[in-house]
Amino acid sequence: MGDDGKNTLSIRDNRTGRDYEIDIHDGDVIRAMDLRQIKVDDGDFGMMAYDPAFTNTASTRSTITYIDGENGILRYRGYPIEQLAERSSHLEVAYLLLKGELPGQAELDDFVHQITFHTYVHENITELVGAFRYDAHAMGMVTSMVAALSTFYPDAKELDDPKARWIQIIRLVAKLPTLAAYAYRHHRGLPLVYPENELSYTANFLSMLFKIGGREYKPNPVLERALDVLFILHADHEQNCSTTAMRLIGSSRADPYCSLAGAMSALYGPLHGGANEAVLRMLNRIGSVDNIPAFMEGVKKKEERLMGFGHRVYKAYDPRASIIKRTADEVFEVTGRNPLLDIALELEKIALSEDYFVERNLYPNVDFYSGIIYQAMGFPVEMFPVLFAIPRTVGWLAQWEEMLLDGEQRIARPRQVYVGQDARDFVPIADRD
Ligand code: SDX
Repeated sequence: MGDDGKNTLSIRDNRTGRDYEIDIHDGDVIRAMDLRQIKVDDGDFGMMAYDPAFTNTASTRSTITYIDGENGILRYRGYPIEQLAERSSHLEVAYLLLKGELPGQAELDDFVHQITFHTYVHENITELVGAFRYDAHAMGMVTSMVAALSTFYPDAKELDDPKARWIQIIRLVAKLPTLAAYAYRHHRGLPLVYPENELSYTANFLSMLFKIGGREYKPNPVLERALDVLFILHADHEQNCSTTAMRLIGSSRADPYCSLAGAMSALYGPLHGGANEAVLRMLNRIGSVDNIPAFMEGVKKKEERLMGFGHRVYKAYDPRASIIKRTADEVFEVTGRNPLLDIALELEKIALSEDYFVERNLYPNVDFYSGIIYQAMGFPVEMFPVLFAIPRTVGWLAQWEEMLLDGEQRIARPRQVYVGQDARDFVPIADRD
C-alpha cells in the first residue's frame, strides 16, 4: 500500500493530460477492461494491452495448480508435487485435482471403481483404429479416437448437469489408456488386449500394451510404480498451451471429448508435450558424448534447439525433472541402463555451467528425462506424447470444469491490433498488374 494507502495504479495519459486511477487486485493484477476508459476522444475504442503469446496475461483465476517459476515450486491444490509423487497414486491425485480435496478411503475406492468399470470403449472404435496405416503416429490415432468418442455420448453436451459432466470425466480418464494401448498394438500389428478390471489403472495399461497371448500378465511392480509417478508429475501444470486450448475450445461449449482432442493437438507440438519425443530423437542424433561440443555450438548459433530444456515459467530447475531423474535410476535397475542417459547427463552438465545456457535459464524440464525412461520401458518414441496426454487428461478436465463454473468466463475471443491495408476498392482482374 502506497503512502496514500490506496491500492491503485495512477496513470497519466500525456496525450490528453487526463489522470486515471486503476484498481489493483490479487496483489499485483489490473483488469485489462479497466484500461478501456483511457481514450483521446470519447468515440475511441479505448486502451488495450498487446501481449502476443500471452506472456504476461492471466486468462483466469484458478485454485487448481500453483507454480512458482523462480523457485521451482509446483503444488496441486496446495500439496507439493514432491510429497504427492512420493506418497500418493495417480488416481488419488486425479481425485484431488478434480474434486479439490484428497479423498477419504471410501471416496477413493468408489472413484477407482468408477474408473475401472469405464475402461472399455465401443467396439466400433476397434474398427476405427484398424483403419489407420500401420505406421500412423500414435498421437494422431489417439487424438482422432478421442474426438470420435464424442459421437457415442450425446449426453456430453449437457454441460450444465454436474452428473453428465462427471460421467464424461470418468469416461475420458478411464478410456485414454485403452485408446493409447489400442494405438500401440495396431502400430505393432498385435491383437488388441482388452482391459482387465482386476488390475490397477497403471498395471491394466501395461497389460493392454505388453500382454502377449493368453498368459496372465503381471507388470514389474517397479515399472508399474514408476509409470504411476510419471503420471502424477504430468497431471496438471496450470495455464500451459494445451490447457489454454482446452479452456478456449470449451468456452464455446463444445463437448469435453472434442475440447480434449484440441488440447491433445496442442500438446503434440515439439515445443510442448511433443518435446519428450523430440528429446529422444535429438539424443539419438547426437549419438555419443564426443559429439556434444559440436551440437552445443549449433545450439548457440541457433541452428539447433536443446529439446527438453527451457520453460516459459520455470527459471529454475523444473521440480518434476528432478523427481523423474531419480525415478530413472529405479527403472534402470530393472530394465538396464539406457546408454542415452550418459549423453543426457553431459548435456545437462554443460547447460548448467556454460553462460549461454545459464543466462537463458535453460534448465531441464519435465520432458528431458521422461523419454529416456519410456524408451527403457519399451515404448517407441511415437508413444511418448501419448504418455503425456494420458495423465494430463485429468488436468485438462479439472481446468475445463473450473472454466465452465467460473461466472466471469464467457466464450474466449481476444482482440487484435490491425496493421493491415486501409479501405480500398476491388480491382477487376483485367486491370491488375
Ligand atoms: C512443456 O507451459 C508449460 O507448463 C508446459 C509444460 C507442461 O507441463 O504443460 O511444462 C510441458 O511443454 C515443457 C517444455 C517442453 N519443450 C521443450 O523442451 C522444447 C525446447 N524448449 C523451448 O523451445 C522453450 O524453452 C520453451 C518453448 C519451453 C519456452 O520458450 P519461451 O518461453 O518462448 O522462450 P524463448 O523461446 O523466448 O527463449 C528465450 C531465449 C531465446 O534465446 P534469445 O532469442 O534470447 O537469444 O532462450 C532460448 C531462445 O532461443 N531458448 C533456447 C531453448 N529454449 C529457449 N535455446 C536453445 N534451446 C532451448 N531449448
